[in-house]
Amino acid sequence: MESPTQAEIEDKLRGEDLKIWLELWRAEQGPAKPSALKLIASAIPFPTGRSLRVLDLCCGPGDAGRAIHSRFPHAQVDFVDRDPFFVSLCGAVNRRDGIPGRTLARDLSEPDWQKDLASDYDVVVAVNAMHWFSMTAAAELFGDIFQSLRPGGAFLLLEPVGAESRFASGFNAWQKEQPSQHKHEDWMRFWSRVNALLGCDYGGYLGEPDQNRIGDKLSVMQWVDLLRDASLESIDILLRDTEKVVLAAVKP
Ligand SMILES: C[S@@+](CC[C@H](N)C(=O)[O-])C[C@H]1O[C@@H](n2cnc3c(N)ncnc32)[C@H](O)[C@@H]1O
Repeated sequence: MESPTQAEIEDKLRGEDLKIWLELWRAEQGPAKPSALKLIASAIPFPTGRSLRVLDLCCGPGDAGRAIHSRFPHAQVDFVDRDPFFVSLCGAVNRRDGIPGRTLARDLSEPDWQKDLASDYDVVVAVNAMHWFSMTAAAELFGDIFQSLRPGGAFLLLEPVGAESRFASGFNAWQKEQPSQHKHEDWMRFWSRVNALLGCDYGGYLGEPDQNRIGDKLSVMQWVDLLRDASLESIDILLRDTEKVVLAAVKP
């Protein structure tokens, strides 16, 4: 059986209670995320009345872009993800909420992923996304993000992190004792509902993740180095909790 097309998915989502889908995703993403998104939106160094151009990369259902829109009500937000289900869900919620901008299916592993996107965004945001790529691919993507920003534009990202190798063993032992942000049953709840809606094993179509993906082991400073190597400046660690880091940087 073929993977459902975006048009078919959009059709199936019509009439669905989008609030329930967003709640399932919120549970899957863990209890710390809403406050981290609020921090990301709050840290954007521009007046809230500005008509910002925002790009939400690997947007999933679009939480990050809409968190920014709620602080910058005149912002125009473009959302990009490779997964047709997420693109369809994100587009449906954006239409419901009247968020101006485009919601596009793009694979960031493809060299032309930026085609017909702006090159003067005020803000690029990536949440729980860049760790899906290998170090080489992430370094290239950070270069692309630099190109997408106007001078003075800001890049904000939230990613899972580990500790530097000298500290990793003790840190990992401590981390195991902390409440986990993610529960397998929340993940199952979301994806089994997707499968039920689409009438197939949807996850199976997405294939195996990149075996060389960064995952959750990169240290905060290694993420900072990636930002530095992409010529971004004013780099700050806005938050580091038991599992994640929120970083911000500016294109000079
Ligand atoms: C953990 S989800 C996070 C989604 C969203 N940023 C959020 O915070 O809810 C990771 C997202 O990255 C997307 N993704 C992974 N690899 C991608 C690629 N090569 N191109 C575009 N999107 C990708 C997935 O489809 C998924 O939506």
